[in-house]
Amino acid sequence: MKRDFLHITDFTTEEIWETLELARWIKKKFYIGEEYHPFQDKSLAMIFAKPSARTRVSFETGFFKLGGHALFLGPNDIGIGARESVGDIARVMSKYNDMIMARLFDHNHMLELAEYATVPVVNGLTDFNHPCQIMADILTVLEHRESLDDLKITYVGDGNNIVHSWLALAMRIPFHFTIACPENFKPDLDMVETAKNAGLSTIDISHEPFEAVEKADVIYTDVWASMGQKEEAEQRRKEFAGFQVNESLIKATGKKTYFMHCLPAERGIEVTDAVCDADYSIIFDEAENRMFAQNAIMVKLMKSI
Ligand code: CP
Ligand code: NVA
Repeated sequence: MKRDFLHITDFTTEEIWETLELARWIKKKFYIGEEYHPFQDKSLAMIFAKPSARTRVSFETGFFKLGGHALFLGPNDIGIGARESVGDIARVMSKYNDMIMARLFDHNHMLELAEYATVPVVNGLTDFNHPCQIMADILTVLEHRESLDDLKITYVGDGNNIVHSWLALAMRIPFHFTIACPENFKPDLDMVETAKNAGLSTIDISHEPFEAVEKADVIYTDVWASMGQKEEAEQRRKEFAGFQVNESLIKATGKKTYFMHCLPAERGIEVTDAVCDADYSIIFDEAENRMFAQNAIMVKLMKSI
């Protein structure tokens, strides 16, 4: 039975921990220069309906480092859902490839892709979520803190796809998760309820960033206008006034705090240069860990077929 990674909750708690351990093991091998080629003669189709730097490069390079070959299919190549139906693309791609990775707008298209594909599908971001990013992020927190005990993460900004994946993680691993967002930019409230009802993590929504960051171990932010919303950027800048992550917000935690951002950042907008470049900023470690977290996810999925 092939498995997909479309949501963090597609993995059990045990599988998430195994994946994080495997990611650390793959990273170690990479840095000591030891070959690990479980994907020899395998290929990965990478379907991108949106732009990308990290996701494209980390999947393509990552799959290659595991001994396989990855193909980039950009928005003008296959026109998923426009030139051809999602289901037909899923079935055709499954004939040539051992795995599919996709970055799409509509989350339902991602579900459809996985339904019709006969090979594992990995979600590289939709309008709804970004599970690979949050796996890399929690790996990064683990590396810096060595334990997730009593961890408080405060997310400041738009209640978007990144927040939905943090909420999904909160259903598998316990931590304190506070979201500080403007009233009109809350995350999906069903998702918040589902995460709360899982009963594992504490989840709060606040509209007061300075209160929300108190005692936070991590302050996380993301762009105020995601891909597909860029025409709203100017209006959003007004609505998000007071939600910028700057040095005074970092100081308001009252403790040692790491700064995280999935990137790309709009420096000077949702976060200042000083915070991005501070010694407590671990944004490039997150980017680095994308490759190792994803490689571990793909190794686990490949074992399912
Ligand atoms: N964080 C992230 O997914 O970056 P890209 O959009 O550049 O892939
Ligand atoms: N929320 C952002 C994340 C980019 C990695 C977006 O969807 O554009």
